[in-house]
Amino acid sequence: MEFNTEITNYILNNINPEDLLLQEISRETNAKIMRPRMISGYIQGKLLEMISFMISPKYILEIGTYTGYSALCLAKGLQKNGKIITIEINDELQNFTQSFFNKSENKHKIEFLIGDALEIVPKLEPLFDLIFIDGDKTNYIKYYEQCLLKLRVGGFIIADNTLWSGKVIDETIKSNDYQTKAIIEFNTHIKNDKRIDKIILPIRDGISIFRKL
Ligand SMILES: C[S@@+](CC[C@H](N)C(=O)[O-])C[C@H]1O[C@@H](n2cnc3c(N)ncnc32)[C@H](O)[C@@H]1O
Repeated sequence: MEFNTEITNYILNNINPEDLLLQEISRETNAKIMRPRMISGYIQGKLLEMISFMISPKYILEIGTYTGYSALCLAKGLQKNGKIITIEINDELQNFTQSFFNKSENKHKIEFLIGDALEIVPKLEPLFDLIFIDGDKTNYIKYYEQCLLKLRVGGFIIADNTLWSGKVIDETIKSNDYQTKAIIEFNTHIKNDKRIDKIILPIRDGISIFRKL
C-alpha cells in the first residue's frame, strides 16, 4: 500500500525540502526512540501542513504526539492567535519531544499534554476546527466518538493508518491480527456514521478525512 521507494524519491525531488527542525526530529527519533516507523515523515507531514493552511484553524487537537513531527506540521497553518493541543500517553517522550517544540517558531502555540487522551479529551474546552487522531489503533472508535463531540460543525478530523499497510483487505491477516480488526471495525463505524462526510486517501498507511455535517 505504501509508495515504492522510486515514487517516494520522485515526490521528494519535486517538492520543497524538509525544514531543518523536522529533519532533526526524524534523525533523532530514528537514532534514539523505539518504533521510529511511527513518525509521520515528510510527505505525510507536508500533507498535514497543507490541510492546516487550507483550513486556517484556530484550534487543533492531536491524539498521539510521539516525537512531535505531525504537531509541528499542523501548527504551521494555525491562525496567529491559534493553538494546538497535542496529547501523548508515554511520559518517557516528554523531555525529548518538548525539546523540539522549544526550538520551533510556533512553540507559543503548542500545548503539550502528557496523559491518556481518553481521560483528557472529554475535559477540553474549545471546539476544535481540526483534529488529528494518531493514537493506538484499538481505541480509534473511542477517540473518534470523543473527538466528534469536540469538533465544530464544518470542522475536520484526520485519522492516520486507516488502511494499515493494506492489511484491511488481506484475508489471511484480517481475521487474526487484533490491530487490523480494530481498524476494519473503525472504518465500518465511519462508513455507517451519518453525522460526517468521509474519504480515505491511499497515501502512506491510509489517511482518512471526515467533515462534520
Ligand atoms: C503513531 S504514534 C504518533 C506519531 C505522531 N503523530 C507523528 O506523526 O509523528 C502514536 C502515539 O500515540 C501514543 N498514544 C497511544 N495511546 C494513547 C492515548 N490513549 N493517549 C495519548 N497518546 C497515546 C503512543 O504512545 C505513540 O507515541
